[in-house]
Amino acid sequence: MAALKVAIPKERRAHERRVAATPETVKKMAGLGLAVAVESGAGVAASYPDDAYRAAGATVGDAASTLAGANIVLKVQRPLEQGEGANELASLPRGTILIGLLDPLMNQAQVGAYAQAGITSFAMELVPRITRAQTMDALSSQSNLAGYKAVLDATEYFGKAMPLMMTAAGTIAPARVFVLGAGVAGLQAIATAKRLGAIVTATDVRRAAAEQVESLGAVFIAPPDLNDAEAKGGYAKELDKDAQARQAAVVAEHLKKQDIAIATALIPGRKAPVLITADMIAGMKPGSVIIDLAVEQGGNVALSKPGEVVEVNGVKIVGHRNVPSRIAVDASALYARNLLAFVQPLIEKGGALKINWDDEIVKGALLTRDGAVVNERLKPAA
Ligand code: NAI
Repeated sequence: MAALKVAIPKERRAHERRVAATPETVKKMAGLGLAVAVESGAGVAASYPDDAYRAAGATVGDAASTLAGANIVLKVQRPLEQGEGANELASLPRGTILIGLLDPLMNQAQVGAYAQAGITSFAMELVPRITRAQTMDALSSQSNLAGYKAVLDATEYFGKAMPLMMTAAGTIAPARVFVLGAGVAGLQAIATAKRLGAIVTATDVRRAAAEQVESLGAVFIAPPDLNDAEAKGGYAKELDKDAQARQAAVVAEHLKKQDIAIATALIPGRKAPVLITADMIAGMKPGSVIIDLAVEQGGNVALSKPGEVVEVNGVKIVGHRNVPSRIAVDASALYARNLLAFVQPLIEKGGALKINWDDEIVKGALLTRDGAVVNERLKPAA
């Protein structure tokens, strides 16, 4: 029996430097009995050269030979479709298993196209956040690095130092950093800003976040009477109008004294909540920096623009796209391990495919199978 073939195509979406497998994970997949094919140049932007993949046991070739006969295709971003330049979707073999950050809740039409193309697809974002799946949690691995990088990006645009410095020429006051949204990215942003010596505060709508913020040595800021807006799975719910107004009043007042704001607030499957309005920006000190990590989900900051740095009254609003890709070496290494952890249980000894379709993790992440969209979160309400 021929070994199952796993393909790692080069990522073709703009602003994507990551790759879905590293030499380390290729070696492990080969050890599972899988034949791994990597498209030439797939890892170059993340500093993984073709030779390193070859040395790890992969074959390296062009796009067509990489995908030909592939049983499993590992991706970072969802495939490009007709009208988006290259049509990656059309080049996937019928019957293949596609696994990636497919962003299905925001791209439901494309999920329908996977079904029509006879592709079995899994979205890494929908892997349930249960203990057994922690090693597969790509949202966490990527958000963590994004939170770290957001602070470094802020320092690049900030004309002052972060820590308190007492020098012969006088004292430099520490920077004040305010983190909005204290999930995985926000908590890492807090930890990173603390390490650089800033005075850090943070806000969230989930009450559990307060304790986590405080355990990192930051101060939690929220209206005293804010109800807990935690939904199933630990995610946030949208606030009602009244609660939004009370939160906005606290944020507006607090921002006036801040040097750096890092906004990371998301609500799964929805547009990101706007937490920093144009009026609030007008009240900030010149030289302040805002990083909008949610810019591609609609933005937490009223004036942010994807891929741009906007300056308003001396306040710089940074809207870098795809922040995990800005730290592509580690982001790829962790994401590739997430994928390996997901694939491993699907392979039985000897390297054959054996999927337990009733498994909670498989069911949670599965989008399409046998020509149909099967995920509960995507099926239209009956
Ligand atoms: P996320 O990326 O969906 O959202 C980021 C943060 O924004 C969240 O903390 C959310 O509460 C906050 N937020 C949403 N609306 C807001 C608003 N209007 N104002 C202020 N903040 C707002 O969340 P992420 O980072 O994926 O984490 C969500 C939860 O899942 C957390 O409780 C986290 O600890 C938990 N988690 C659990 C894991 C596990 O058990 N295996 C792994 C990773 C995260």
